[in-house]
Amino acid sequence: MAHNDLHLIYFSPTGTTEKVMDAIAQGLNPAKMTRHDLTKAKEEQELCLDNGMAIIGIPVYAGRVPETCLQRLSGFSAQNIPTVLVALYGNRKFEDALVELRDVVTAKGFSVVAAGAFVGEHSYATPDYPVAVGRPDKGDLKLAQEFGQQVAAKLTNGPVSTPHISGNVPYKERVTFGGVAPETDATGCHLCGECAGACPVDVISVDEAVITDAGHCIMCAACVRACPTKARTFDHPVVNHRRGLLVKNCSQPKAPTLFI
Ligand SMILES: Cc1cc2nc3c(=O)[nH]c(=O)nc-3n(C[C@H](O)[C@H](O)[C@H](O)COP(=O)(O)O)c2cc1C
Repeated sequence: MAHNDLHLIYFSPTGTTEKVMDAIAQGLNPAKMTRHDLTKAKEEQELCLDNGMAIIGIPVYAGRVPETCLQRLSGFSAQNIPTVLVALYGNRKFEDALVELRDVVTAKGFSVVAAGAFVGEHSYATPDYPVAVGRPDKGDLKLAQEFGQQVAAKLTNGPVSTPHISGNVPYKERVTFGGVAPETDATGCHLCGECAGACPVDVISVDEAVITDAGHCIMCAACVRACPTKARTFDHPVVNHRRGLLVKNCSQPKAPTLFI
């Protein structure tokens, strides 16, 4: 591959975005790879990438790039390095997330050469409400790897341009999350702190009990996935209503959509 230093930049509370990025990276087969995992809250970093290439990945929240991703990306810029965009969505729709991500990173100096909307298990999937369970599956990951190979070929053969990406500008109105958060059943909780460790926005504290600042929760469900005893659940009526709609309307598996 011509661009031998690959930067993986991602936000992935429940891990599906990261899985797909890794498969694309395998297809690109770089000599060196640097991970910029923006999932956990850290000191804001300023970083200008001036060589190699990048893959930037985000989960789709309400058809948009999550606000937390925008904040965490704010310190990044690039000097025209070739960049692949990834939006992971839970088999409903990805709507305007990829065009929004394209616009945000283009303004920062990244040169978008390809983009893909992939399907991942919905963050709110449960055994009673299965939505895209097990995605990305073997087929998705094979496709992602082949996509990486296609991008490598595009970069080698040139000319390199930004493909058409589906989505609307102006983007759909942003939905603000918060006020509703997962809860812990004290009888099943061992106070191990895995939930707090998994939270991207540090709104969970574990001392003699698990306390959640629901006002600042981004509703990503990472804490639910991380709980080893299943004491942490997200059974709020708002979320259960959404689960019901997802099962009713979004059970037909969707295929990834690639733009190259
Ligand atoms: C708050 C929230 C909003 C979401 N909105 C959408 C959506 O608009 N369309 C969709 O298909 N999936 C949606 N999802 C599902 C996620 O995009 C999906 O589960 C994704 O795989 C999560 O990525 P991650 O595993 O990297 O965290 C939403 C999930 C959450 C938590």
